[in-house]
Amino acid sequence: MRKKYAAGNWKMNKTFEEGQILLSEVVNMVKDELTHPNVQVVLGVPFPYLSTFSKLVDTPKVALAAQNCYPKASGAYTGEVSVPMLKSVGVKYVIIGHSERREYFAESDAFIAEKVDAILAEGLTPIFCCGETLSQREAGIHFDFVKGQLTNSLFHLSEEAIQQVVIAYEPIWAIGTGVTASSDQAQEMHKVLRDHLASKYGAAVAEEISILYGGSVNAGNAEELFSQPDVDGGLVGGASLKSRDFTDISKSFP
Ligand code: G3H
Repeated sequence: MRKKYAAGNWKMNKTFEEGQILLSEVVNMVKDELTHPNVQVVLGVPFPYLSTFSKLVDTPKVALAAQNCYPKASGAYTGEVSVPMLKSVGVKYVIIGHSERREYFAESDAFIAEKVDAILAEGLTPIFCCGETLSQREAGIHFDFVKGQLTNSLFHLSEEAIQQVVIAYEPIWAIGTGVTASSDQAQEMHKVLRDHLASKYGAAVAEEISILYGGSVNAGNAEELFSQPDVDGGLVGGASLKSRDFTDISKSFP
């Protein structure tokens, strides 16, 4: 059975003190309330908080993610953070290829592929984001575009390695806009992506890969989205900044 995920992406929000409060609220609520054995909660928090937070998380139900990494292990790369550094402070997941990084920091598919390799080399799990713009969807090229993102950044991986990757489909037009993809739209794209994975790696491998949906997920729409057969959870931005909402999202699996 594929693993299910409620992954929060705090983005560039919360001071250290505010973050500590939010973290402890989420950890306590998840410990008390989340009974689904196959759901992993992941919190993508700002770099400076990871070391302290990893000591505060006292349940395997919650794991920490970094929101980015640099693909080199060490060296003269001022301001960057490597995967071995993240691993050394207890990080288990790394969000990469987010549309905000692709847009504001001009990250290419090839650069993201390097990050995938660096993360897997350290035994961490990449949460690989992909998704189309509204104009691409309106032009009818959204399926090919997102399939191309997978091909360019993931399809060099071995059959074993691809199964360590979590994919997050995030249509850019749905991120932070309050406009969620309908459950049909999400399911349709997730199925296209799973079929694309199957075309390269075979159906059995594709069946093992968790594909999350991201884009204005909230406590009111999570249940319908997560009930779709190819939607294995969510990558949640705004609603992950509210402990009650995010915990409710983590409990929205069938
Ligand atoms: O990484 C999370 C996504 O960008 C979704 O953000 O839930 O605020 O729309 P959002």
